Amino acid sequence: MSKHILVTSALPYANGSIHLGHILEAVQTDIWVRFQKLIGNECYFFCADDTHGTPIMIAAKKAGKTPESMIEEVQKEHFQDLTSFGVEYDNYYTTNSEENRKFSESIYLTLKKNGHIVSRNIEQSYCEHDKMFLPDRFIKGTCPKCGAKDQYGDSCEVCGTSYSPKDLKESYCSICGNTPVLKESKHLFFKLQDFQNQLKTWMEEGNRLNEGAQKKLQEWFTSGLQEWDISRDGPYFGFAIPEEENKYFYVWLDAPIGYMASSLNHLKDEKKFNEFWKDGKGEIVHFIGKDILYFHGLFWPAMLMGSGYKAPSQLNVHGFLTVNGEKMSKSRGTFINASTFAKYLDVEHFRFYMACRLGSGMEDVDISFDDFVSRVNSDLIGNLVNLVSRVSTSILDKMDRRLGNLSAEGKSLVSELLAKESEIRDAYESRNYSKVMREITGLGDKVNKYVNDYAPWNLIKTDVEKAREVVTTSLNCAKILFTYLAPVTPKIADAITELFQIPPLSFMNLTETIENKVLGSYQMLSKRVEEKNISLMISETKEAFEKSNPNQSKQEPSKSNTNETKVGSVSEDGFITIDELSKVELRVGLIKEANPVEGADKLLFVKVDLGEKGIKNVFAGIKASYTAEELVGKKVVVVANLKPRQMKFGLSEGMLLASGKDKSLSLFVPDRDANPGDLLK
Ligand code: MSP
Ligand code: ZN
Repeated sequence: MSKHILVTSALPYANGSIHLGHILEAVQTDIWVRFQKLIGNECYFFCADDTHGTPIMIAAKKAGKTPESMIEEVQKEHFQDLTSFGVEYDNYYTTNSEENRKFSESIYLTLKKNGHIVSRNIEQSYCEHDKMFLPDRFIKGTCPKCGAKDQYGDSCEVCGTSYSPKDLKESYCSICGNTPVLKESKHLFFKLQDFQNQLKTWMEEGNRLNEGAQKKLQEWFTSGLQEWDISRDGPYFGFAIPEEENKYFYVWLDAPIGYMASSLNHLKDEKKFNEFWKDGKGEIVHFIGKDILYFHGLFWPAMLMGSGYKAPSQLNVHGFLTVNGEKMSKSRGTFINASTFAKYLDVEHFRFYMACRLGSGMEDVDISFDDFVSRVNSDLIGNLVNLVSRVSTSILDKMDRRLGNLSAEGKSLVSELLAKESEIRDAYESRNYSKVMREITGLGDKVNKYVNDYAPWNLIKTDVEKAREVVTTSLNCAKILFTYLAPVTPKIADAITELFQIPPLSFMNLTETIENKVLGSYQMLSKRVEEKNISLMISETKEAFEKSNPNQSKQEPSKSNTNETKVGSVSEDGFITIDELSKVELRVGLIKEANPVEGADKLLFVKVDLGEKGIKNVFAGIKASYTAEELVGKKVVVVANLKPRQMKFGLSEGMLLASGKDKSLSLFVPDRDANPGDLLK
């Protein structure tokens, strides 16, 4: 029985470029949507640009453009950036549309008719020169706490205090520099508290939110729901409020309604639209970041409930993207735009890496570039792509590119892979993509072992038919694995169908085998990441920032270490010299102490005795396969001259050698008696 699902990503603001944080969300959503489509569900993916509000109005004015022409250009650029990462929308619309105006008006009027709108006068900062009320971010002045000059109206960037713009000293309008005055005007409020009980029931029933998000909502219920100011006085770029003079909907009122506008614009038919938004069998699933949970978990369902629509079925809330363990930073060159990434690196590698890192919760998601390189190069290229590439050129050529029948051994390996289908489906469904990736690479390891054991590159010289059998098994396994991976790496999936000359990979034709068939020619599926492209990407990001902020860039010292020369870096021909190798100091270490690290589920903190070199502190990612107790007294191999690294939990002064990962990780230990501090030769 197939499901009917309408999926959205949050609508990016039209006043900035798409960066890797936006891409994280778009990719998380796209993987889920592609998965739904590949298992045969009816699924739509709708998004749009969020175009209204004061910042856009001011930016357009500065650029000498109308807001309409500016948002049109930005929407094109956003669409280009997002889709260049393989994100496939059914519709990417705009909130500045007739559909959206109509929905916004009718939803508002229904809420008003039902008594959920009240009006009240409030006092706000007003610029008499610009003839407009100033949002907090457009007022600057001296911080009342620490005296720092030129701080924003809501909080001080120097001392971190939050305050109201009225408390700023020597405040001025950030547009014209004049002193604002306080002025009263009527505002319209949505009575969110009318929906307290309905919202609570909505939140508690079904499996709508992940645990973290549910907790957060619970906190807000406990502290009590407040009326929400939904009007702004003109001039304001947005929709005029019906039955009012010079009042406009606050951008956050019409933004989520933009989901409906994008839906109707694509579906056209009102009946189809109502299947999702009114009473039908369709489900609505939103993907959002944790910063906009209040809007999507409270205001938005309440607006829908109060105006005769269906509240969302599911809210999938993700955390923020961090780079090398820290918040993205412009001056460090880690606030990376989507287009800059795409210029230097393979976007499908980003999708793959994000999938490796994403779970179903709200935790932040880190991209560490060292880890990015090793995951992509070993798990995607070395493990999965290699299954296809190493048998698909000369070996296949030598057997006229024809596959044979699956042998008994081949069939049993194939069924071992197929047996994981339901586990993989469940993990995709619950957005536990990192689990999907672990399963797939685990299976890839098995198939690689099989291929290595038979070594078809040798067999082909002596026994072509046996080689054909091994290649047939390997490629049938690869077809299954790349079907499992298809939501994540759709381009590779397409290249596979070209090679095998079969219809698009799908979970519905997972069990179809490829036998007695001549294959097409082999096109490179995906290449290894080249590390120099990462440095180039970061330098370009940094330079762009330094150009636009010649003063600021000097204040924040660069912590990036991507320009340091790497010890033993590998030369063009793939070899390192003895000299390079001798730079790495490997020593025997005796573990004196080992402890878990609070807040880190993979790390153990160990103190290792390196004899004459003293005792070093090391944070080691080995907790999945070792307990602290069993480590004490063990002799291990330590990289002793690794430059100390400041990690989130403390300084790490070395590295323990190990192979494998997670549960199958294994530490290297000296085979015979060895003394702490002994140098490895
Ligand atoms: N326009 C609003 C959303 C309106 S939805 C009716 C908005 N726009 S945004 O451009 O600031 O953010 C769009 C989405 O990107 C949000 O879900 C936000 O959480 C997400 N992200 C923005 N920066 C992010 C990271 N650094 N990391 C992950 N997601 C982030 O909010
Ligand atoms: Zn002004």
